[in-house]
Amino acid sequence: MIEESVIRTVIERTDIVRLIGEYVQLKRRGGRLIGLCPFHREKTPSFSVNAERGAFYCFGCHEGGSAVDFLMKLENLSFPEAIERLAERLGIEVVHTNGYAAEKRVTAKSRERSYLDAMKTAQDYFVSSFYLDIGSECRSYAAKRGITDAMVKSFELGYSPESWDGIVECLRKHGQSLEDSRELGLVASRDSGGFYARFRNRLMFPVHNVKGEIIAFGGRILDKSETAKYINSPESPIYTKGEHLYGLYQAKMHITREHCAILVEGNVDVVMMHAFGFCHTVASMGTALTPKQAALLYRHTKRVYLMYDGDNAGRKAMYRALGILLEPGFEGLYAVELPKDDDPDSYLRTYGAEGMSQLIENAKPLGMWCVQKKCTDIMALPPELRKSGFGELSELLHEFPDKLAQRHYLSEAARFLGQDERRLAVELGMNIQTEGAVSKVPAEQNIECNQYDKIEWDVVHLVLTSDKRFESFMELQGIELIQEPALRALLLEYAEVLDKSNSWDILNSLGENSRKLYEKVICSAPDVPEDELDKWYSGALAGLTRKWAAREHQQLGFSIAEAVKRNDMQSAAALIEKDRRFIEMMQQSSKERQYCWQHEG
Ligand code: UTP
Ligand code: MN
Repeated sequence: MIEESVIRTVIERTDIVRLIGEYVQLKRRGGRLIGLCPFHREKTPSFSVNAERGAFYCFGCHEGGSAVDFLMKLENLSFPEAIERLAERLGIEVVHTNGYAAEKRVTAKSRERSYLDAMKTAQDYFVSSFYLDIGSECRSYAAKRGITDAMVKSFELGYSPESWDGIVECLRKHGQSLEDSRELGLVASRDSGGFYARFRNRLMFPVHNVKGEIIAFGGRILDKSETAKYINSPESPIYTKGEHLYGLYQAKMHITREHCAILVEGNVDVVMMHAFGFCHTVASMGTALTPKQAALLYRHTKRVYLMYDGDNAGRKAMYRALGILLEPGFEGLYAVELPKDDDPDSYLRTYGAEGMSQLIENAKPLGMWCVQKKCTDIMALPPELRKSGFGELSELLHEFPDKLAQRHYLSEAARFLGQDERRLAVELGMNIQTEGAVSKVPAEQNIECNQYDKIEWDVVHLVLTSDKRFESFMELQGIELIQEPALRALLLEYAEVLDKSNSWDILNSLGENSRKLYEKVICSAPDVPEDELDKWYSGALAGLTRKWAAREHQQLGFSIAEAVKRNDMQSAAALIEKDRRFIEMMQQSSKERQYCWQHEG
């Protein structure tokens, strides 16, 4: 808790015009100060500051409030954070009401300040080296990559000289602790004692926190040598990997104004995107996107365009980012797809800002994009190699925390793969339970498919995997052909459910036992080549019809015998007439069944 009196002093002493002037170019127009609103995109100024009242207001987007509100909104700070920041500017010591904790905070703060100070010394060293003679190779490398002077300035790029002890001397001279510098990864210690430079002959990308303080570095080699492309700062008391986004400090104002952010992989990509006017771009710095980074981004915007490299690794990283970005609840997530051999940097150099705008305009919803890509990947494989692809598809679909979205994308995937969605759901283990549904299929039976009724099972399998087949099967009273009571119960329940619910809810609407049986049936497919399925199916139906007719014929035989015994010749004649139809049916279906009917019960 910050002491009340401190808060009052900070608010009183803050000059709102100066504060806002650091973010917005203000012009005097009549009695008012106006500028381009930092909270929305506009071409003519509708943002105004009233110095007397210590307030700002935008006539365009209606954001408004005090200096503290301004800082909170623009920098996404909490109230105490904003007060602390303003106090820092004014040189006011922040007094906390909780004495002991406050004391600890003060020491922690001063420790932190000295680490940040060491980083600043190193940064000055890298920047001045960039402009010295020794920096000429680095400057021409940057120029060759298309990194403009303006970008060098804006991102505070620097050069770490070849020298093993240059930075050690510099840090020492400025009174920085070399032990701290070692913790920060600026220098490393020699076995023989003493320290040497960790970054040598590299283009230096400082990593800023949102306040603009330098907390880490990434150093890129200038040529294609065999050493690592980047050397990065290790974790330190002021830097935790995966908690920051490269370029956020430079991008955050633009992100606020554009109401969206572009997320790329590489430091160079960020710099180039900014150079081409896409200033709302940040990077996850090589590592897979972390939940902390997603949460950080979410503080600044609710919409993200994901644009990773076009290669396989980039695509995989996009699949992985999906789940992480879904977590905070972004309102809009989009995938910008680069050609296979491009990254944002190379794409910009070939197609310019115009081409990039086009690409971003064509962005697809990220979830949809991931599912479609995954399905395309699967289809590109020969069938026997698709198993792992299906596993990955299942993982992908399970990333959607929202069941509705999960189902939507499952049906999308089924459409893409040309598969029945219920069947795909079972294959992917995606059946979601709902309570309340009562199974027609009895629980106590452990129903297994045996040799005897294999054809019944296979017929039911085919009927349940195609709505068209199911319809005609029911129309022809196909259930009569099925002997196994559990299968009949399943078919009846399925028909009821199909009538009531939209196709998505079918699995859920089945009772538990029915669903179990359904899964068994779905998983035991007939052992017939794909392109002969239809032929096999009609044959199998004919066979079942013959068996059914034979059963009816047998029953009638008994009835006829009974009637004759009773001397009821009229009934007997009617029954014989009826029997003739079954005999015909048996003969007819005997011919049709040949294709599949090898074993008869
Ligand atoms: P890239 O290899 O795409 O680097 O890695 P880049 O910055 O785009 O550089 P160019 O275009 O190849 O010159 C993306 C990010 O991964 C991290 C860096 O943050 C890099 O910006 N990375 C990459 C490392 O940390 N270490 C590496 O060895 C490589
Ligand atoms: Mn790259």
